[in-house]
Amino acid sequence: MPEIFQTNPETVLLPDVGALPELMGARRPIHVEVGFGKDVRVLREAARMPDELFLGIEISGKKARSLCRKAVRAGLANVRAYRGDVRPVLAERLPPGSVASFTALFPDPWPKWNQQKHRWIREATARQMRVALMPGGMVTLATDHDHYRDQMKVVMAGAGFELLEERPGVPDDDRTLFAQRFERLGESVTWLRWRSPETKDLAPGGGAGATTSSV
Ligand SMILES: C[S@@+](CC[C@H](N)C(=O)[O-])C[C@H]1O[C@@H](n2cnc3c(N)ncnc32)[C@H](O)[C@@H]1O
Repeated sequence: MPEIFQTNPETVLLPDVGALPELMGARRPIHVEVGFGKDVRVLREAARMPDELFLGIEISGKKARSLCRKAVRAGLANVRAYRGDVRPVLAERLPPGSVASFTALFPDPWPKWNQQKHRWIREATARQMRVALMPGGMVTLATDHDHYRDQMKVVMAGAGFELLEERPGVPDDDRTLFAQRFERLGESVTWLRWRSPETKDLAPGGGAGATTSSV
């Protein structure tokens, strides 16, 4: 029996990845934000689009619980928070074609060479996002780390995404706590947005779990 931190009937924090599709039910489209941290962008978006479902995925239980509490206080019934690593969710749990958008603002860059294996945006996960996305679905990423930015561009292009926009600084809607921190420190950041192609075909050898390189 998975432990469920029930905050209200519609907004729950569910630690068992197996129950995720059940949790989301038939509600579509789904917008997924990965690693929201202490930021509440996902709540702003949920308030703006009450008929769409917002799933926050965050590895820190404390931050995930905090988002749930804030969603309840804000009276938002269209928010779900999953406490856990995004990777098994992408590999196994998002129904193909169910996601309208993925957003990950300032994913941990793991800047040292020997840490880079911990970055979650890589070839396999880019392909998995493409499979989970509806045709024409969007992926928005931001980073302060040039090497990670370049890695993102390579793996997203490899998965067949079209780069729509790449700009310094983040638009107002995506000015998260980390974006504001980098702004205060005068550090340069890059914001990028891709669109999934209209076709669901992947390149030969591709598939939701396919990975052939080290990124
Ligand atoms: C640098 S913070 C960015 C927080 C927020 N997006 C912002 O811009 O203010 C990165 C967040 O990603 C979360 N995180 C790191 N690895 C993760 C993973 N594999 N799956 C889900 N969340 C992850 C961390 O716990 C942290 O809250």
